Amino acid sequence: MKHELATSAKQILLSNDRNGYTVPTDGLYPYQWNWDSVFVALGFAQFDRNRAWREIEILFESQWDNGMQPHIIFHQVDPNYFPGPSVWQTNQPNKHTSGITQPPVAASIVRQLWESGEASEQARMEALYPKLMAWHDWFATYRDPMDNGLVMTTHPWETGRDNSPEWDLPMSGVDTSQVGEYSRRDLNQVDQSMRPTHEQYDQYLAMVFFGRDCGWDQDEIVKNGPFRVLDVGMSLILLRANQDLLAMAQALGFEEDCKKLQARITKTQIGIDFLWNENIGAYCSYDLIAQRSSDSLSNASFLAFYADVGSPLQRQKLTQHLLRIKDTVSYLLPSCDPASEHYNHILYWRGPIWAVVSYMVGLGLIEQGETKLGNQVMLDTMAVIEAGNFYESFSPDTGEGTGGKQFSWSAAIWLHLNAQRDTFTLQDEPKAK
Ligand code: DGY
Repeated sequence: MKHELATSAKQILLSNDRNGYTVPTDGLYPYQWNWDSVFVALGFAQFDRNRAWREIEILFESQWDNGMQPHIIFHQVDPNYFPGPSVWQTNQPNKHTSGITQPPVAASIVRQLWESGEASEQARMEALYPKLMAWHDWFATYRDPMDNGLVMTTHPWETGRDNSPEWDLPMSGVDTSQVGEYSRRDLNQVDQSMRPTHEQYDQYLAMVFFGRDCGWDQDEIVKNGPFRVLDVGMSLILLRANQDLLAMAQALGFEEDCKKLQARITKTQIGIDFLWNENIGAYCSYDLIAQRSSDSLSNASFLAFYADVGSPLQRQKLTQHLLRIKDTVSYLLPSCDPASEHYNHILYWRGPIWAVVSYMVGLGLIEQGETKLGNQVMLDTMAVIEAGNFYESFSPDTGEGTGGKQFSWSAAIWLHLNAQRDTFTLQDEPKAK
């Protein structure tokens, strides 16, 4: 059984391979997506390490000169996706890309590949290192408006959690009057009940048009853009990625970089308390335009463990939420609190489980000593992928697959977790005598 699943998972990665990069799924997402690709490398690493490195190397060939690593690389034009390169109009030399970024998970995965690889693979880490550093520099330069180490996002697509209720308030202020007519292609592939609404799509496009119309001028987008939000997910992922990049800088003996990275880490470790929402008892995203917390608990809030932040009391509040949620749903970890009025078990980022976020949360819990809960997240993630057959995401209530089929990152995360399956036990740890 496990053998058949491994064969299927491998087959999904190979069939979504487009000669060195991997599409998230055929049809719905026909290009290379930034964080998808990086997680996909973890899956390839189980059977083809060279291919795993290649995935990330090809991604970074499209890095912008200012250091930004874009969220989509349009390697070859496909009329089945909207909005394509002619809408984004980023005018980058020799590359068609979108104009926004995505969660910076790359340094963390590169560190894993490097540490688990042969000595000869060090050269590949070394070649990627300056690109990772340039991307992290870009975040520090353009996306830290409060100078507190928290990431300001300019588009929900950057966060990866496109229609999370966290964005409802900030999106409500976006002027869509100039968007005009367009034809969505995602609804040809997936049922509308599992996709963002038309109103949300108008808002996503209005934000793209703002960037396009100012020539993707970061200063302008950051100062006057229609969507300016401190994202708890990107902030915690960048904090973790800075820690992983620091480990690489130390190994390479780059002292100046070490100092710079350590200062950024300390800044975020202090700054993150700005996002703590005492009413909710969790870190929550914050709308910089309305100057209001999202008051919304999402799976991203639990990345606190992955980034190693939070006082003992804050961590206790977070684990209490997890235990409460565990008693409400059949499988951890829903993307939205099931107690929220916005919860919908099949609607994209308003309920369904996403293997990549669950993997990061599970890893963080295990690393921080919340072993049983972390193992539960890992086992539930594998269980829904197995029951739901490698879909894009999964219902926390029924385990059924939601969104696109034959999804690369679900296959990759399953391959990665399956290799450590025996370590995920639910037994209580023996009490110290
Ligand atoms: C989509 O097309 O829905 C993507 O999430 C954009 O990146």
